[in-house]
Order: sequence, then C-alpha cells, then structure tokens
Amino acid sequence: MTDGENLSTIEALFDENRHFPPSEEFKAQANISSSEIYDQGKDMVNYWRTQASRITWKKPFAKVFDWSNAPYAKWYVDGKLNITESALDIHAKATPDKIAYYFEGEHGDTRVITYLDLYKEVCKLANTLSDLGVKKGDRVAIYMGMIPEFPVALLACARLGAPHSVVFGGFSSDALKDRINDASAKVLITCDESWRNGGRVALKELADVAVLESPSIEHVIVVQRTGASVNMIEGRDHFYHDLVTAASDERDAEEMDSEDPLFILYTSGTTARPKGIVHSTGGYAVGAATTHSMVFDIKDGDVYWCTADVGWVTGHSYVVYGPLINGVTSVLYEGVPQFPDKDRYWEIIEKYKVTQLYTAPTSIRTFMKWGTEYPKKHDLTSLKVIGTVGEPINPEAWMWYYEFIGNSKCPVVDTWWQTETGHIMISPLPGVTTTKPGSATVALPGINVDVVDEDGNSVPNGSGGYLVITHPWPGMARTIFKDPDRFKDVYWSKFSKPEENKWVYFAGDGAKKDLEGYIWLLGRVDDVMNISGHRISTLEVESALVDHHAVAEAAVVGRNDPTTGQAIAAFVTLKGNEKGDDALILELRNHVASKIGKIARPASIVFTDELPKTRSGKIMRRLLRDISEQRQLGDVTTLANADVVHEIAERAKASQDKVSSE
Ligand code: WTA
Repeated sequence: MTDGENLSTIEALFDENRHFPPSEEFKAQANISSSEIYDQGKDMVNYWRTQASRITWKKPFAKVFDWSNAPYAKWYVDGKLNITESALDIHAKATPDKIAYYFEGEHGDTRVITYLDLYKEVCKLANTLSDLGVKKGDRVAIYMGMIPEFPVALLACARLGAPHSVVFGGFSSDALKDRINDASAKVLITCDESWRNGGRVALKELADVAVLESPSIEHVIVVQRTGASVNMIEGRDHFYHDLVTAASDERDAEEMDSEDPLFILYTSGTTARPKGIVHSTGGYAVGAATTHSMVFDIKDGDVYWCTADVGWVTGHSYVVYGPLINGVTSVLYEGVPQFPDKDRYWEIIEKYKVTQLYTAPTSIRTFMKWGTEYPKKHDLTSLKVIGTVGEPINPEAWMWYYEFIGNSKCPVVDTWWQTETGHIMISPLPGVTTTKPGSATVALPGINVDVVDEDGNSVPNGSGGYLVITHPWPGMARTIFKDPDRFKDVYWSKFSKPEENKWVYFAGDGAKKDLEGYIWLLGRVDDVMNISGHRISTLEVESALVDHHAVAEAAVVGRNDPTTGQAIAAFVTLKGNEKGDDALILELRNHVASKIGKIARPASIVFTDELPKTRSGKIMRRLLRDISEQRQLGDVTTLANADVVHEIAERAKASQDKVSSE
C-alpha cells in the first residue's frame, strides 16, 4: 500500500503490545476453549460439513461446495431447506415459550415475543404476502424502523422464497426508488413513521414519493407505528394489521434450493451506482449461525443484543438470522443511545441482563466522549462477551470498552466482515484467542484470508498490503443482482489468476500482519468512505452534489474524524454566477440528504474555482485528503494547476467544521 497516512497509523498500532488471553474463568465455561478448532477448520470440507448440522435440511446436500464455475460458488449443493424452519419452526416446537425478542421501544413501550409468537406472526404475514400475489422468486422491498415487524417482514419473505431487499430507513426516497427499481420489487413493506431520537421519520411519506416512480410495486403494506395519519391509496396501500390479523397463522415453508437467493442488499462501491449483493440460502444460513454461535459464545439462557439496524447486513445476519437459528433470546431496541438520556444502552443492559453486546466503534467513541458516569450508573455485570463491527477500532476505544463496559473481564471480539462476505470472517474466538486492542486478530476457523502486495504475493509478517480471501466460504455473495460481470470485475479481477484457476477475493480493505501474524485492518483503499461504520462511495456523494443546479463539479473525500471514523469533506466548483455562501452550503447538504440520506451529508463543503487535477484531467483526491486533514501537502508536480491547491488549503482551513456533522 502506498498510502502514507495508513502506514503511519499502523506504525502507531504496532506499539500496541498489550495481550489479553481469555481468562481461566471464561475458558472454563466457553463452548469452545481449545485451539484445535483452528486445525479442524483447515479441513474445509469436513469442517463446513459438520457446521451444516446447525441447519434443518429438507433434503441433505450432496456436496459441501462446488467451485468449478469460479468465482460463482455453490455451497451445500443440491441441499433443500427453508431458512425459517431453522430460525422458527424447530424452536416454536421445542421451546415455544422461549423469548425470541425483548422489544424495547424508544419511548419505553415494550413487547415480549416468544418463538411461537414469532412463528405465527411470520406465517400470517407470509400468507398475506401470498394473497397479494407474492411468489417464490419475487422481490419484496422493506423500508422500516426497528420494530418487531421488521424481522417478521424478512422472515415472511424467506418463508415464501421471495428474496427481500431491505433499504435502510435512513435512506432518502430517491435511494429507495433506485433500489426498488433495480430489484423490480413487487411489494413494499413500510411503516407509517418511525421514532428516531424523540422525533419522527415519515417513512410512508418518503415511500410514497419513491413508489410514484417505481412501476413494479403493486402493493404497499404499512405497519402502524406512531399512528400518524398517512395517505393510503385505495387498492395499492394496505394497513398491516388489517390484512395480517385475519390471516392464518400456519404456512408451509417453501422448499428452496441451497443456492436459491435469500436476499439482495445494496451496498456502496467505487461507482455512483449501488450494488445489489445477492446472498443465497444454504451457505448463508450455515455461515451466519456458525459464526454467531462461536464468536459470541452463545448459550441457552443468554440475552444477546446487537444494536445494528436490520437495514444493514449486520442486522440481517446478527439481529435476525444468526440469533434466531441459534434459538437465542435477543433484545431489539428501536432507538438511539442518547434517548431520553445518554445512558439508554446501559439501562437496557441492566434491565434485560444482557449477556452479549455487539455494537460499533463509532458508538463506543461517542460513549467515551460522554464519559464514564453514564455506564457507571448501571449494573453491567451480566455481560460476558462484547463485540464491535463496522470499522477499525482504535486501541483507546477498545480499552475503554473493555474496562468500562466489559468490567475488565469480558473478551472483546472485534469482528471484520462485509455485506459481501455475509458473516464474520476475522474475529477472535472469545474462549481461545488472545486479543490485542485494535486488531481483529485472525481468520475464523474454516476461513482463509491473507494480506498481499500489489502483485498478489503474500506479504511476510510485519508488512502491510491488501486484505484478500483465498478460499470460498459458505456465506459469500453469489453475484451482483443482474450483473454477474460486475461481480467478477469488482471483487475477483485484481489478484485472481484465472489461467491458473486461482481465484482471490479482494475486499477493498488495506491490512497489515504483525509479527505474530495478527491482522490489523487499515480501512478502505478505494473510493469508499466509512462514515460511522457505513459505506458511502465518494462518487455517490459527488453525483448528488453535481445534481444540484448551482454545482459545476464536485470532489469528495473521507477525512479522519475522531468520532465517526471518517467525515465527508466536499470540494465544489460552482456554475458561472452562483455565489458560494453559508446558505448554499446548507442547501447542498440538504440536497445530498434528499438524494441519498442524512448519513451522506458532507460535514464540510469548500467552494473553489478549480479542483486539483492531473494533466490527464483526473481529480487528485489524495491531495484533497491531505488538505482536509491539514497535512503537509504531498507531491503536486503532476498537477496541471498546482497553484490552486494552496488556495483550497487556505479556504478549507477557514471553513473546516463550520458546519458540524451532527
Ligand atoms: C469495514 C459491515 C475494520 C471494512 C459488516 C469493510 C471493518 C466494511 C470492520 C464493510 C472491523 C467492517 N475492522 N474495518 N472489525 N468491520 N469494517 O459492508 O472497511 O457495511 O470492508 O459490512 O466495513 O462494511 P459493510
């Protein structure tokens, strides 16, 4: 990797020599406490065959995996199943009264949902969807707040074999519309509104705008959450309770081939067009269940809480499918950590005696900022394992989490994975792996990763490069919806050698192996930013900016931010007579929010007469990053317009953080 900033970060990380082996006490109770599991994982076929017994198969698979059509994998070839039978039916039968979700509303309202309740509700919604014409293979879009009907919606689709396409409730109507149209979804499931930080998000209103330009949508199902009056179009729109209450609570699960798609989830890449990542049924089910059980040391009686929104992949795998297949009790919390006060998470942990917490580094850094008085108000001693995901966690935040949330006794599991990988890939096993603050440690058993140089050669310990995955894995994305060539091109072209039948998955992340072979993630090496653990492409934001009538050209970079990981810094040139003032900054930020969603709003916008470009006309984002982070400017000799950078640097300094990232 050539990126100087990342290398300096890693040098600092390498001074990090603290080791935290699992305590004897933890080991004694852990499901897995011996490193033999890593040896077992080396025999891929046997290992993943064994793990497949976590799933209820309608018909056993003939072969563990088939890589003959690489990079398009097949797992559990010819196996038949419906994932909801593993997630619901077996528990509804064996432990009907066991709690699947403790739902905690943002305003303090609660619901307790048993496995039998969940089973029935899913069957009812599946019957409803079926009555509305949804069949196996049809796509259903879901755009909801964090309420129990959200997991129900995913599971009802899965019951019918209709791939769900969830769009995060923080995305704009434009983003929703694009995703509905790309997937040609037939039905949309949404809410009237959702609660968010004490306020309301008008989901149905946003959905209405999207559906106006989404010809494939035949029906919209609306869950009443706040009871706000919403516009309902006769024949197209239906209230959830009107349909579902009357529906039968039994519904046979559609028999799916292991390779039938389970869901599509859109994610940002290096172009402005989000990619519809397609996940299949059998491999995903095994991968999500195995990793959830092992990484969080899940046991009967645990109360597990993943704070991620179901709208992201973490919610799919670790709020819905993984925990339910493992039959665990989960907390489902609707709102934000600061409502009504900054101790809400800690209050919830105390109230439900949460045993595993899975959250994001950006939240942890925010908690640090708020101070230890908030967690100290509550009894957090029920916690056993605490996890993080979404972005690199800095050692200070790791230590704070370990000390003040984990009471210096809970293993911290820093888990690396992606929408495309489907499930956790690199993470400690809490009863086995010695952790180091800031490192995701090593690949899980049965997963092969490496760090390679520009030519694809494995780098020695102590060096950095690109993170790659060198062997297919069960939950791997199968393709990009309707675009298999793009799938091959984006993920499999950089380091693969098809002529030697060598296929290497490139994750887009930089990483370093330390002297003990531990992996330290360094962030994205492409034009993807990571804002509070959410992937946003620079090009998406640039095209949203250029879409505004005043903007001629825009360049966007992610600059380091102590809380959100990265913050979006935009550089904009305006058309002829436009005036770059504070009012326009506000307008542009709102414009991006309406095009993509609030998470994509630039934290700072600098107006400039020109953008720094190479002689071939390519925008030099590296320089803009230097400027945004107020670093010594790198080499400018290749620029066609070298003087412009100093001017931009002056302006950037003046305007930095004038507008907060909120
Ligand atoms: C980043 C989220 C460092 C990484 C599950 C990856 C991480 C992207 C970690 C995927 C981690 C995720 N340490 N970086 N523990 N976990 N990332 O698709 O850059 O929303 O490529 O999936 O987040 O983001 P995605």
